Amino acid sequence: MSQPVTLDVRGPVAVVSIDNPPVNAFAHAVRKGLNDCVAAAMADESVAIVLIRCAGRTFVAGADIAEFGKPRKDPWLPEVLDAIEGAAKPIVTAVHGTALGGGFELVLASHYRCALASARVGLPEVRLGLLPGAGGTQRTPRLAGVEAALELITSGRPIDAGRAKALGLIDEVFEEDLDAAAFAWCERLVADGAKPRRASDLEVAAVADEVFAEARAGLARRARNQLAPQKIVDCVEAATRLPFAEGAEYERERFEECMASSQSAAMRHLFFAEREAAKIGGLPKDTPSRPVRSIGIVGAGTMGGGIAMSAANAGLPVVLLDVDEAGLERGLAVIRGNYAKSVGKGRLSQADADRRLGLIEGTTDYAGLGDVDLVIEAVFEDPELKRRIFGTLDEVARPGAILATNTSYQDVDAIAAATSRPADCLGLHFFSPANVMKLLEVVRGAKTADDVLVTAMQFAKTIRKVPVMAGVCYGFIGNRMFNPYMREAQQLVLEGAGPDEVDAAMYEFGMAMGPIAVADLAGLDIGYKARQALPADRRGDESPFAVADALVVEGRLGQKTGGGFYTYDPESRKGTLEPAVVELIAAKRRELGFEARSIAADEIVERCVFALVNEGLAILDEGIAQRPGDIDIVYLYGYGFPAWRGGPMHYADAVGLEYVLKRVREFHERFGSRAPSALLERLVAEGRGMDSWSAEGN
Ligand code: 3HC
Ligand code: NAI
Repeated sequence: MSQPVTLDVRGPVAVVSIDNPPVNAFAHAVRKGLNDCVAAAMADESVAIVLIRCAGRTFVAGADIAEFGKPRKDPWLPEVLDAIEGAAKPIVTAVHGTALGGGFELVLASHYRCALASARVGLPEVRLGLLPGAGGTQRTPRLAGVEAALELITSGRPIDAGRAKALGLIDEVFEEDLDAAAFAWCERLVADGAKPRRASDLEVAAVADEVFAEARAGLARRARNQLAPQKIVDCVEAATRLPFAEGAEYERERFEECMASSQSAAMRHLFFAEREAAKIGGLPKDTPSRPVRSIGIVGAGTMGGGIAMSAANAGLPVVLLDVDEAGLERGLAVIRGNYAKSVGKGRLSQADADRRLGLIEGTTDYAGLGDVDLVIEAVFEDPELKRRIFGTLDEVARPGAILATNTSYQDVDAIAAATSRPADCLGLHFFSPANVMKLLEVVRGAKTADDVLVTAMQFAKTIRKVPVMAGVCYGFIGNRMFNPYMREAQQLVLEGAGPDEVDAAMYEFGMAMGPIAVADLAGLDIGYKARQALPADRRGDESPFAVADALVVEGRLGQKTGGGFYTYDPESRKGTLEPAVVELIAAKRRELGFEARSIAADEIVERCVFALVNEGLAILDEGIAQRPGDIDIVYLYGYGFPAWRGGPMHYADAVGLEYVLKRVREFHERFGSRAPSALLERLVAEGRGMDSWSAEGN
């Protein structure tokens, strides 16, 4: 097997190359190879300077996440980096692509640092529930100051090379040909008699104590309940108080605490789940795809407009069609307004906004869709209308164009059947607001061709969405699971919990919003109308929705009418519970024979979250979702489930499926909640966890 790290001595410069595809992660062999090569360069008297560079698409992207949680193998990264910083001859790093986590810590530990202008550097460990564990929290404040270090490490957001240079984290930025430029720089450094310069020798510039208190308070809001961000502040503060070696020791202990935490396990699970979710089981890697150079959208409403912006933001030309000029103009005005808001907030330049707007061409004529590679239909949620539009698209779209529906619930196969080309049809279910939300459910119809699916997964990446494949059923993955969750939340209100108590319990659990507040935001009429559209035998027991339905009848549709369960302040949008609604709830309780009882937050959480889990297992069993991790990604990016809990399925595994089953059974017997799914029963009977489940080998 070829060595992942090699040494090539060229005159006074020893070039150490790291080559560990795909992202040059610091696997054990890389740590050992780097250590050995640097030691060999130090021992070689002809060598005056060492240049560390990477082969392939990127500099080191960090520690090898796949090794986390496994027994430690020496040499440990902090030791390798300390040896590099302590080396007697100058060591230079040259960054292309991304230097992330441990990769950027290598850069910080080296003596001279250069980067390609297109490179990005950062310390994203916090997104894995971790903190930089190889000196990053100690060297960054020494080089860039406390405030910049706190921002970089607690946000986890990479910065570009120019910004890194301005902060003092990079010395030289080269426009092109990094290897040659870095080599020439090494020669100049030798000629100038450059000596090793160590970040650890620097003092941290003093800051006021309040800086840390403010950082902690801000993170307590922005990164609610998360351990790692708070510990990062502790470590950066330690850098201001302790000598480097003690600060590094302190950092290592906090790193180990994070690594052992359930939060990091959950977030690492999500890292890999997100990458798995983009893969379609059973399809060979070389399945071809179709080019998507332009798209068409039918329906310039809430969703169509958001989808158009997502595509234009990624540089794709869009033809946006609505039924008439008025509908089209309404849609385009919203898009213009959204871009203007971004410009106003300084998030987008006027030139960029103009460029993006210029990519969106409005029309009311279907002939305008004749040349596009992909059409996404986003008209009203009316199956007959959708079928009619697909019939028209079949006539106008060019052969090979992909036809997608953004339906939330309808049968994608029935819509595809309105065309002569069901193999080219699928669902692309975006989430609102579509220009912001990252999730995209790619709905595979019975006849959808493999290359159409692969193209959809790639298209999602192009427009910076996270795709998850779903099968056809009412509500696909996300909305189907959301139904029993919402049912449980609303039944809890009938049983005696206040809407605010239900929301507070779920918010405390970590959800971005409580379920009742979500219902108000989405519009209480949406669920109401969706249920009314179903044949009576498919509606199930509607009594849990009694309060919501009564509110709809009163015209309280949610935030859009100023009130639903809550009444909203038009300025602050803060919701309060009005006595009239409290009375309406009490009346519905009496009417349906509920005797109000006090319900603990724990029960609220278990009732709601286990309802998600139970339905998620049914979905897996039916093959609607490919993997438990796919469901977790849907809930992370589409429904505000807290990352540090790893998604509902990971959470259920962490709690223990046996316990989940016991509670789901109790809730079924006592409150009429859904019965345990067959897969939940089966996994528990076989003593298996969620992780052991796979679509192929279940
Ligand atoms: N360890 C192990 N595998 C990794 C990895 C890592 N650090 N980073 C990426 N990979 C794998 C991915 O799982 C994926 O594998 P697959 O092809 O089998 O699915 C493959 O590399 C390619 O990754 P992406 O699909 O994400 O490729 P992109 O080009 O879209 O993105 C990237 C590249 C920007 C490097 C992105 O992968 C990334 O952000 N990686 C994680 C970086 C990170 O979090 N680093 C910190 C690690 S923790 C650490 O360093 C601790 C230290 O302080 C001690
Ligand atoms: P909307 O009512 O905001 O927009 C629908 C648009 O379609 C309007 O501009 C209307 O003029 C246009 N339209 C109606 N009939 C048309 C026709 N015959 N030809 C061309 N255009 C026509 O609706 P919204 O919310 O954008 O929903 C669209 C679709 O997206 C629905 O299927 C909905 O279920 C789905 N969806 C909605 C989400 C949401 O949160 N709003 C989330 C995910 C999917």
